[in-house]
Amino acid sequence: MDLQLRDRAAIVGGASQGIGFGIARRLALEGARVAMLARREPSLLEAAERIRAETGASVVPVVADIRKAEHIRRAVEEAVKVFGTIHIVVNNDGAPPVGRLAGFDDAAWQRAVEQNLMSVVRMVREVTPHMRAAGGGSVVNITALSSIQPMIGFGLSVATWAGVIGLAKTLSLELAKDRITINTICPGLIDTPRLSTVFTRRAEQEDRDPSVVVEEVKQSVPIGRLGTPEDIAALVALLVSPLGSFITGTTIQVDGGGRQSLL
Ligand SMILES: NC(=O)c1ccc[n+]([C@@H]2O[C@H](COP(=O)([O-])OP(=O)(O)OC[C@H]3O[C@@H](n4cnc5c(N)ncnc54)[C@H](OP(=O)(O)O)[C@@H]3O)[C@@H](O)[C@H]2O)c1
Repeated sequence: MDLQLRDRAAIVGGASQGIGFGIARRLALEGARVAMLARREPSLLEAAERIRAETGASVVPVVADIRKAEHIRRAVEEAVKVFGTIHIVVNNDGAPPVGRLAGFDDAAWQRAVEQNLMSVVRMVREVTPHMRAAGGGSVVNITALSSIQPMIGFGLSVATWAGVIGLAKTLSLELAKDRITINTICPGLIDTPRLSTVFTRRAEQEDRDPSVVVEEVKQSVPIGRLGTPEDIAALVALLVSPLGSFITGTTIQVDGGGRQSLL
C-alpha cells in the first residue's frame, strides 16, 4: 500500500534510538524527509547516517532538548530551513523518573510537566502555522499504556501524559478546520534500550538472571512477545498518511492486548 508520504516533511523527537528511531526509519522508508531530534550528538549523527544509508532519504539530525522552549523553536526553524515546511510531527522522547508520588517535590513535578506536557504544547504551537500554510498536517504523541491504565511508580508520567491526552483531544477539535490531525499512541512493553535498562535493574534488585525476567515479562503480554519500535512506527505511518486523514482526536494503545478494559 502506498501511504503517499513521499517528500512529506517530518520532525521526529527522541529519534536516536528506540521507538523514535523506528518511527524516523519507517517514515524515511516511505519516502518522507525527516528531521531527527535528540540531545546527545554522537548517537544522533550515527542514527541519522544509518537511516540515510538504508533509505536514501533526506535526513537532518538536530541536537535539541525538548524540555527547553528555545531548543524546540530552533529545531523547527532548522527543519523548515531545510525542508521548506512541516507536515508531520511526532512528539516522543524520554520520561520523568519512576517512583512513588509522595517522594516527588514541586521541582520534580515542574520538570515532569516541562518534559511530557509543555514540550508538546510548545512543539504544536511552533509547527501549526507551517502546517496551516501547507494545507494540513499531522501530530502524533507517544505516551504510554500507563497513561490510560495507571501503574504504581509511574505517577509523574501518568499525570502529565493524561494532560497530553486532554490537550490532543481539544486540539483535534480546534485544528480540524485547518486539516491538522492529532492523535496519541499509548505503547505497551516495547523492546528498546530503555526497556533493557529497566529489565537489567529489576534483575539486579531481585538478584535474578535478566533473561528469566525478560521471559516472564513476555509471558505477561497476551500476544506472547514484546512489541517492537516497528509496531509503533507502522501505526504512526498510517496516522500521518493522507490515508489516515479522517482519524483525529484518538488515543490508541499498541500493547499486544495488555490493556484490560472495555473502554
Ligand atoms: N519502551 C517501552 O516499553 C515504552 C513503553 C511505553 C512508553 N514508552 C515511552 O516511549 C518513549 C520512548 O521510549 P524508548 O523506549 O524508545 O526510549 P529510549 O530507548 O530511552 O530512547 C529515548 C530517545 O529520546 C531521546 N531523548 C530523551 N530525552 C530527551 C529530551 N529531553 N530531549 C530530546 N530527546 C530526548 C534519547 O536520546 P538522548 O538521550 O540523546 O536525548 C533517545 O533518542 C518514552 O517517553 C517512553 O516513556 C516506552
